[in-house]
Amino acid sequence: MPTPAARLNNLPAYPFAVLGQRIIEMARQGTDVIRLDIGSPDMPPPPAVIDALDANAHRDDVHGYAGYKGTPRFRQAVAGYYRRRFGVELHPDREVLPLLGSKEGIVNLALAYLDHGDIALVPTISYPAYSMGTLMAGAEIYWLPVNAAGGYLPDLESIPADVLRRAKLLWLNYPNNPTGATVDLDVYHRAVDFCAQHDILLASDNPYVDVTFDGYVAPSALQAEGARTCTVEFMSLSKSHNMAGWRLGAAVGNGEALNSLLQVKSNFDSGHFQAVYEAGSVALDDTPRDWIDARNDIYRLRRDRIMTVLPQIGLEAACPKGSLYIWARVTDGQGGANYCARALDGAHVSLAPGNIYGPDGDDYVRISLGMGDARIDEALERLKAWWAETGG
Ligand SMILES: Cc1ncc(COP(=O)(O)O)c(C=O)c1O
Repeated sequence: MPTPAARLNNLPAYPFAVLGQRIIEMARQGTDVIRLDIGSPDMPPPPAVIDALDANAHRDDVHGYAGYKGTPRFRQAVAGYYRRRFGVELHPDREVLPLLGSKEGIVNLALAYLDHGDIALVPTISYPAYSMGTLMAGAEIYWLPVNAAGGYLPDLESIPADVLRRAKLLWLNYPNNPTGATVDLDVYHRAVDFCAQHDILLASDNPYVDVTFDGYVAPSALQAEGARTCTVEFMSLSKSHNMAGWRLGAAVGNGEALNSLLQVKSNFDSGHFQAVYEAGSVALDDTPRDWIDARNDIYRLRRDRIMTVLPQIGLEAACPKGSLYIWARVTDGQGGANYCARALDGAHVSLAPGNIYGPDGDDYVRISLGMGDARIDEALERLKAWWAETGG
């Protein structure tokens, strides 16, 4: 066999792929592991979405290639969603680009914008695809320090001038994975001004914008004045509509950036199955806000249940107003990776170690809310018993 490309030397395996393999091996040996590590919704999309997939899959005229830019109807549905939800007008053909899930677009945006010697600005705790995409493009990561005290907001003014000269992308994500941090529109106003001033593309990754609690309503970066000149936002149906496995999202915003992204992705993929675009259009056009609120209420109750137990299992966390996660600090000082390994062995509960989200995640674990209530309760009971016996 030939040796794999040198680019793989700098590209670690995707952390969840590695963890998943370990859990498959434990399951093979008969161990029942409860997975609170993975951020995948456990509930179905609205019934009308499934009906639309079914009805459209039976049509004769949907089985060919749908086109590199998806279908006009899906682009219009995305534009309609932005109009209704954020008051943002998007041109469906120039300012909306459908994606095979937002992760695809995130990595391809890096390939579209970054060369050797270029820099992407990535928070020190963030979704791994921002740094992985940068590495895949052969470019450099400049880690922007974020922490609990600063609300997990990067201090853009602290970036050195020589870094800014080479920086081409700034990644922001609120409601945030993994920290659950949320922002108001003012943060995007400042980020847009900063990026416009320094000729940087603001990449706002916003898959949790409709997964929020306690009355908090998350903004879009495109609501900030002037955003369209320097911003691309990634939207996704994965979490908003419980459609993670359907792989459907879109990049929206600056048309020039979307063209560059299309130039890359049209060489990789040939669009989605048309019936999926049709069902996605139904999801965006017809899902009542009540459905989203009721789903979020289920997550909120899970969040509250877990928050109550944290002190009994050696963890502490701020209560998140958005996202699918609780970002909890390990109080025994031994770090998140150590805690996760021990919890997996001792309680057969899998949590995500904070260090997979970047260099400042060492002291933390991420707990997902995407698991049914009975399994969450069982996981909490197991963790309590394990901690009482070994840790507390
Ligand atoms: C912050 C963030 N961005 C992007 C994604 C990718 O979502 P999608 O399913 O649309 O590819 C995820 C998935 O967990 C995420 O947490």
